[in-house]
Amino acid sequence: MKKILVWDWPVRLGHWLMAGGFCVAWLTADSETFRLVHVVSGAIVLGVATFRLPWGFIGSRYARFVDFVRSPTAVKDYLGGLLKLEPAHHAGHNPAAGWAIVALLGFAILTSLSGWAMYNEIGGDLLEELHEALATAMLIVVFIHLAGVFSGSLLHGENLVRAMFTGLKNGLPEEAISSARPLAAVLLLVWIAATAWLIAT
Ligand code: HEM
Repeated sequence: MKKILVWDWPVRLGHWLMAGGFCVAWLTADSETFRLVHVVSGAIVLGVATFRLPWGFIGSRYARFVDFVRSPTAVKDYLGGLLKLEPAHHAGHNPAAGWAIVALLGFAILTSLSGWAMYNEIGGDLLEELHEALATAMLIVVFIHLAGVFSGSLLHGENLVRAMFTGLKNGLPEEAISSARPLAAVLLLVWIAATAWLIAT
């Protein structure tokens, strides 16, 4: 196996913007002073997640939902291999990671939309509680996600975190994607800026 390109630019840029946006939103959640920072970072999370949905259909091979949203049997087989410390290698996301990603995208959209409604004084105390519960549930999935990333990195002897920066993973040459789609990443940035502007103003 060689290092091949698997993650396109929108996946990589979107990932780190979502991770950063989530962390900043979490850290500023209780602050009056940083309310706008909280709102803008939540809007960045929403912008990434809403871009990621269509990108899951028209993006490059490993960005597509059809590549990584797999059956419960596939997830069971993957986790069985993981427990035996010999998980199957996937050039893209593994079947367990795939469902964590679906959950993260779902929570990203629900948490940020409920925050947006609160910011517009819709929903009252009940919505505030829902927003907090969604954010906590998302944090739990983030920890599961990180446990998967670090165990996968150790067991495959492959630095998956570095791969999310470089786009390169171990694989067969014929499994590589042919373009990193940089123009789509520019579109992602425009989309995020528009989302943040719409939400914060
Ligand atoms: C420093 C913390 C983080 C690290 C090191 C990290 C690392 C990674 C890695 C290595 C992958 C690829 C997994 C694979 O090989 O299948 C990934 C995917 C993903 N991560 Fe993270 N992650 C972090 C934080 C987060 C956070 C906070 C979120 C959400 C709020 C998040 C959401 C996602 C999503 C949605 C994907 C799928 C990317 C896509 O296909 O577009 N990650 N992460």
